Amino acid sequence: MKDLSHQPRDLDGNPVTPGLPMAMLAEVTHRCPLACPYCSNPVELVRAGSELSADDWGRVFREAADLGVLQVHISGGEPGARRDLAQIVAHARDAGLYVNLITSGIGITRARLEELDRAGVDHVQLSLQGIRPDMADRISGHPGSWDKKMGFAEWVAEIGFPLTINAVVHRQNMERLPDMLELAERLGARRIEVATVQFHGWADLNRKALMPTREQAVFARQIVNEGRVRLRGRMVIDYVPADHHAVYPKACMGGWGSTGLNIGPDGTVLPCHAAQSITWMRFENVRDRSLSDIWHLSDSFNAFRGTAWMPEPCQGCERKVVDFGGCRCQAMALAGDARATDPVCSKSPLHAQVVARAEADADATTTEFVYRRMNKGG
Ligand code: SF4
Ligand code: FES
Repeated sequence: MKDLSHQPRDLDGNPVTPGLPMAMLAEVTHRCPLACPYCSNPVELVRAGSELSADDWGRVFREAADLGVLQVHISGGEPGARRDLAQIVAHARDAGLYVNLITSGIGITRARLEELDRAGVDHVQLSLQGIRPDMADRISGHPGSWDKKMGFAEWVAEIGFPLTINAVVHRQNMERLPDMLELAERLGARRIEVATVQFHGWADLNRKALMPTREQAVFARQIVNEGRVRLRGRMVIDYVPADHHAVYPKACMGGWGSTGLNIGPDGTVLPCHAAQSITWMRFENVRDRSLSDIWHLSDSFNAFRGTAWMPEPCQGCERKVVDFGGCRCQAMALAGDARATDPVCSKSPLHAQVVARAEADADATTTEFVYRRMNKGG
């Protein structure tokens, strides 16, 4: 008789079949000189003393490559806050992974960037918070950040890294999106990720200062569509729309536990960056279990795999294999239930309520931020 004791199962006990991950986000530290009010790190930040060592990361990268991962996004916090970043990068390269460095550009000198080039960084992704010094410095909570970023972008071009610009957009900068596209082009970026703030963690604390209006969301969509035509062949625009003002939710992570995984600074393995907002879920750690076991067998990764766990209206909806019921963390934040239909979906019974709240937040006049600081989470 077939032994079914190791059959992966979703949170209702339905059998699921894990696929293989292609990309891994390695958050090597939560330390960061910036304090962006929409930071995707959890509100409870991991302190330096709990971070994995470079050699630990080396083992994790080898396990990831064995599991099928092709590329690693080395991120933070600010990965440059790790003195041993070049060693971490070299481990990723030795494991055969394509290495993308996601950075604020602050705290990495030209000599260090050259060292990272030699260690094996293949691609650089630079975050920009605004299109002018005053705007960028205020949003990032870091005076002088703009000048440092512009200098860093020059070095990236001189050394010859392919460059992607990360532009997080929200009510206080969305109208400058055309200038942001122009700036990215001027900096020689091959790609720009225009991502509307996702309201988890820190961003959720700043909803009233960040929520875009419906008009802004429509404007951003139009600028992205026009830009895609105008810049074809020169710069790719990836876009995460303002889903509170959309009809259907985004297919978050391409489906839970489907193609990607995140590892936090202390080795906690997460199906997405905001997963710890699902407070009842327990996450495993690479210090205790192999990455392959965590991917294939852990309750956290299997919980929302497949479609059998979905409640109505997702269960009977033809889009359930397109958007996978939306974002679990958004369902947790807005419905208080991680397995609910993402309430930004127009078919969700909570949709009208969510839209009304988003519109009220978008009408708020506050521009003050709760900045992301290490001591906020204790
Ligand atoms: Fe997606 Fe569920 Fe909405 Fe259908 S009901 S569009 S599957 S979130
Ligand atoms: Fe966690 Fe969308 S951010 S599933």
